[in-house]
Amino acid sequence: MFITFEGGEGAGKSTQVRKLAEAFARAGLPVVTTREPGGSPGAEAIRRLVVEAGGVAWHPTTEALLFMAARYDHLETLIKPALARGQTVLCDRFFDSTLVYQGMVKQVGEEWLARLYHLLYGNAEPEMTLLLDLDPALGLARAAGRGASAETRFESLGLEFHTRLRKGFLQLAHAHPERVHLVDAAASEDAIHQNILALVNQRFGIHLT
Ligand SMILES: Nc1ncnc2c1ncn2[C@@H]1O[C@H](COP(=O)(O)OP(=O)(O)OP(=O)(O)O)[C@@H](O)[C@H]1O
Ligand SMILES: [Mg+2]
Repeated sequence: MFITFEGGEGAGKSTQVRKLAEAFARAGLPVVTTREPGGSPGAEAIRRLVVEAGGVAWHPTTEALLFMAARYDHLETLIKPALARGQTVLCDRFFDSTLVYQGMVKQVGEEWLARLYHLLYGNAEPEMTLLLDLDPALGLARAAGRGASAETRFESLGLEFHTRLRKGFLQLAHAHPERVHLVDAAASEDAIHQNILALVNQRFGIHLT
């Protein structure tokens, strides 16, 4: 199983990845958790180029290409080998984030990115994407409450930017209803977790508790 988590800043992606991984482990099902940008040594090196505060102000197209290059490394060296070993992969952000941040909001172009996706990654697609949907004002407050971070490039872009991100993610969910499942991220951590368990159990015919 290849499951990705998407959504805006502070929506609770990392929290829910951890909780779902614990549910897989409880059930004795092999699972690995990873994140983007990054996830493999090469991709983490690219992450540092892109998301660290005070770095280069990349052209949005260059930024998109860096994320695509990082994802190629991540897929080839971590995700595909894990799936081949029979492990479930839970990934904190994936291509949908590139599509929404760079493709839609920064207007690099969704069509162009989608073509690049198939050229680079072929049919290596997540089987399920959980979209944690949250009012961006709430998400930014949550992210701020988490404490200082060296990675402020995207968090500092303001409410208007994050409102456009939310719209983009919702558009994606609408365009791919079979893959992208909308999760109300305003609920409590446990309520969201229970909702996600039900969606995953239904999608894969398993019985996580
Ligand atoms: N359902 C929730 N209700 C209230 N607070 C939450 C909830 N889920 C997570 N949090 C808290 O909000 C903060 C952000 O959560 P988390 O790091 O999981 O979000 P994220 O989507 O991974 O954010 P980022 O995009 O910045 O990585 C954390 O401090 C976390 O403890
Ligand atoms: Mg996170």
